[in-house]
Amino acid sequence: MKTRFNWIFYRLSFLLGSVLLLTAGDVMAATDNSEQASLAKGSELFQTKCSVCHGSEGSGGVGMPLNLDDFLKTTSDKYLQQTIRLGRPGRVMPSFSELSDVQVQSLIKYIRSWKPEIKPPVYDQTHIAGDKEQGKQIFNAICINCHREEGIGGKGTGVTFSRPRDAEIIAPAIGNPAFLASASDQMIKKIIMTGRESTPMMAATSMGLTEKDVDNVVTYLRSLSKELPEHGHEHKPDAAVLTYESSYSLEETIDNIKAAAIGYNFRYIREQTLNRGFVEKDQENKNQYLVYFCNFNFLNQALSVDPRIGMFLPFRATIMKKGDTVMVMTVNPNYLCSLFNNAELREGCEFMSEKYEAMLEESTL
Ligand code: HEC
Ligand code: HEC
Repeated sequence: MKTRFNWIFYRLSFLLGSVLLLTAGDVMAATDNSEQASLAKGSELFQTKCSVCHGSEGSGGVGMPLNLDDFLKTTSDKYLQQTIRLGRPGRVMPSFSELSDVQVQSLIKYIRSWKPEIKPPVYDQTHIAGDKEQGKQIFNAICINCHREEGIGGKGTGVTFSRPRDAEIIAPAIGNPAFLASASDQMIKKIIMTGRESTPMMAATSMGLTEKDVDNVVTYLRSLSKELPEHGHEHKPDAAVLTYESSYSLEETIDNIKAAAIGYNFRYIREQTLNRGFVEKDQENKNQYLVYFCNFNFLNQALSVDPRIGMFLPFRATIMKKGDTVMVMTVNPNYLCSLFNNAELREGCEFMSEKYEAMLEESTL
């Protein structure tokens, strides 16, 4: 009886044990799976939302490199999270306020997976109270050469595009309210002390700076802190397309546009029917024309700020006749620029939009 009981007990505990083991295994496999799933999600998000600018492996493009050792060693997960959320208002880096917390975390997990041996640092929030005036002097003697006045950031974008040939990577906007809101004093200090190998950003000692100097610069940078613009209320959305009804015939309207273009410092490039190239020549629709015109100064300036604008330039107007009505339609430059998060470009576009509207009004009224 006793042995039998023992035997049953033995079987039972074995069974229980295996059940427990099995469950533990399942739980571990499930955690593993959800880690994998989160990483896969992060990779997918990165490819769709970030890789156009930062490169598919984070080596940089229009955006900065994100896979450098010194970058991953000095930036905290909190900084990454905030930077993704806030972007850099007025710079090319957009804000991704629409992503869920889980999505942002999976993006960070993916970025960290490039160099799993590097542990993300965690900074204490101790405030650095140095000498702001001393810091300003150092900034204006050294940092300003790349980060520009008050740290508004270098002209142009990223690594490979519209940069001056002597600078490998455009200096980021370290006086930007979103950078200052994302980075702690201790993190900024650590970045300056470390520098970023294989970029123009040198370590403090190589710039001849002591730790005290760095404290002073951090204090100066912190003093630049401005309020963050509220999301979505920065600009009223502009209409995507400007539409004018012409009081002239189709031919007259085209001639007017050509004449006005010259008056407004645009160069007339060419005109063609809208469907040229898509149909036989005798089937082209003579009631729908495209007129191309361009301002090369603006084109060059805009391209040096952000090369992607090239996809939309030169400007073209569509002129079409429907019944007795002649309509002129163009993409609104202001709308185009609102797609690019770039204050410099926006200024140029506002200027162009004004000229553009005046020119088309004059051709149609
Ligand atoms: C339209 C181009 C563009 C896209 C899209 C973009 N970025 Fe950026 N990103 C930039 C630029 C340019 C900068 C440098 C900002 C500056 O000049 O201050 C930047 C900066 C950053 C920084 C700060 C880097 C540093 O050294 O501190 C991080 C982090 C970052 N981006 C992550 C992302 C992630 C993650 C995504 C996708 C969710 C993304 N970016 C999408 C252009 C872009
Ligand atoms: C020769 C040009 C140059 C000088 C001088 C320079 N920097 Fe930089 N700095 C850069 C570049 C380029 C980067 C971006 C490196 C990268 O790709 O990660 C950078 C990055 C940084 C960052 C990280 C910002 C971010 O978005 O991640 C900080 C902070 C910074 N610099 C502070 C300073 C300070 C303070 C000084 C002066 C003491 C200074 N830099 C001098 C070119 C420069």
